[in-house]
Amino acid sequence: MSSLSGKQGPRYRHVADESEPYETIAVEKLTPIIGAEITGVDIARLVDDEARSNRQMDEIHRALAENLVIFFRDQHITPSQHLAFGRKFGELHVHPAAPNEGDPALMKIYADKDSPRANGEGWHTDVSCDLEPPMGSILYIKQCPPRGGDTLFANMYAAYEALSDRMKTYLAGLTALHDGEQTYRGLYANYGVADKQSYPRAEHPVIRTHPVTGKKALYVNRGFTRFIIGVPRDESDAVLAYLYQHCENPLFQCRFRWSENAIAFWDNRCAQHRAMWDYWPHTRSGTRVTVKGERPV
Ligand code: SIN
Repeated sequence: MSSLSGKQGPRYRHVADESEPYETIAVEKLTPIIGAEITGVDIARLVDDEARSNRQMDEIHRALAENLVIFFRDQHITPSQHLAFGRKFGELHVHPAAPNEGDPALMKIYADKDSPRANGEGWHTDVSCDLEPPMGSILYIKQCPPRGGDTLFANMYAAYEALSDRMKTYLAGLTALHDGEQTYRGLYANYGVADKQSYPRAEHPVIRTHPVTGKKALYVNRGFTRFIIGVPRDESDAVLAYLYQHCENPLFQCRFRWSENAIAFWDNRCAQHRAMWDYWPHTRSGTRVTVKGERPV
């Protein structure tokens, strides 16, 4: 894997957006490139208290835009408060395949010693096979293994920026097929979930522009993207293989070590993630609330 640096120094030089100081929350970055831990927020109170919520919500929105994934520890929320927190960011998304915990928008995240698989083990953005893929996902982990079960996140603005100008020109205007069929069919059989007749598929730009920040992000992922449209299949396979390897460079990543009752909130429009299943035979469990997004452009 390329280190993205040479005799001239780093090929990718991250310049953080100028950030005003925060007034209602504290923001501690995990790396200069992605991820920040937020303190000073009690989500259970935030969702119930309109007066307090507006200023904090504005700053949480800003922290997400600046850091792509934000983390909150020691949060004690009920399933309804988890759902209500998600609704503060938009309408809730219902997963096309995964089991839920009583409410269709409350996705179950669970693995134990008998599980054939764990959620999100490969690099992906959530449900990018949807015509309007989710803008963000809010994962609340209630039970952690003693060690392991971290989630890794990667910055797709940085991945785009670090491409050569030639590659940016090549990719501009291309679209790719994202297909849920191969990903989801049979995937949740162990939870007793019967397959649907069909799963979503959609064509999305390979480079998308984030609707809030206006920045360009690489938008292909191993989980759902099958091929680039309009080029020979062998060319598509080679280009996607290069892009996946490039996206997965540790330079673009942070890694979150969970504690019980922590929350991660990531922006699927500019970040990819993968969960580590290195904790077998222990149990890891929680719930995810996902917020609807818009059609990528
Ligand atoms: C997911 O992809 O939503 C699962 C992430 C995790 O369990 O850490």
